[in-house]
Amino acid sequence: MSRQYERLLKCYEYYRSVTDFIPKVGLILGSGLGGYARNMEVLYEIPYRDIPGFPVSTVQGHDGKFLLGYIGKVPAVVMKGRVHYYEGYTMEEVVLPVRLMERIGIDILFLTNAAGGMGEGFKVGDFMMITDQISSFVPSPLIGENVSELGERFPDMSHIYDTKLKELIRKTAAEEGIPIREGVYLQTSGPNFESPAEIQMYMKLGAHAVGMSTACEAIAARHAGLKVCGISCISNMASGLSDGELSGLDVQAVADRRAEEFERLVTRVIGKL
Ligand code: HPA
Repeated sequence: MSRQYERLLKCYEYYRSVTDFIPKVGLILGSGLGGYARNMEVLYEIPYRDIPGFPVSTVQGHDGKFLLGYIGKVPAVVMKGRVHYYEGYTMEEVVLPVRLMERIGIDILFLTNAAGGMGEGFKVGDFMMITDQISSFVPSPLIGENVSELGERFPDMSHIYDTKLKELIRKTAAEEGIPIREGVYLQTSGPNFESPAEIQMYMKLGAHAVGMSTACEAIAARHAGLKVCGISCISNMASGLSDGELSGLDVQAVADRRAEEFERLVTRVIGKL
């Protein structure tokens, strides 16, 4: 058995020693969006650091946990905090949480993140439903021996973001009167922000938002046969597209300002699953 797979099974065993709860939906909360718990009935909390072999974030303020419970009537697992490739974890480690959520029962993964905006007309505070993605100079999380229990060797990525879920997000946003843009999310390795020239290149490549997560998780999720959807919250205009530097980026302030609509949209969508 591969080491990574053994590690996953150990995490799973620990999870099952805590609870037999079977969630249907997994929701990963992006930076600044951690207040989401107030929208759910939480039955269990499992800090990542309690799970043997689970990757724990080294970024201050990202220390995380699983929240298990109900969003509306839908059993869900919410990840408050995720690990990033730039922290030095391997891609396999970065996507272990996605694989664990698949093991414990989810069939839908809802990804969220804070991202730099570069789509035409995009503004800070906009929401963008992710329609497709580009992995830019980040390795695939599927590199290495393929574990057939996890998925097939050469999985198709023609429709990473599920067509029906995209339609549901569009419809729900319209019902709620919440404007939402659509576009392609591009993942970089980070941790540095991009140069303006890189952003010009990414725009030419067809990207509309840039960040340091998500695409690898979506690949692992599709590999595992999960349905995937995602929304970015545009926390800043990407490098070179507005005055000022990105170093002191206040992702939290933008997320706080947009929290009510973001949480309502996510909750309404999940409530219909
Ligand atoms: N670039 C990369 N990652 C990000 C950004 C950005 O501009 N904003 C939030 N996460």
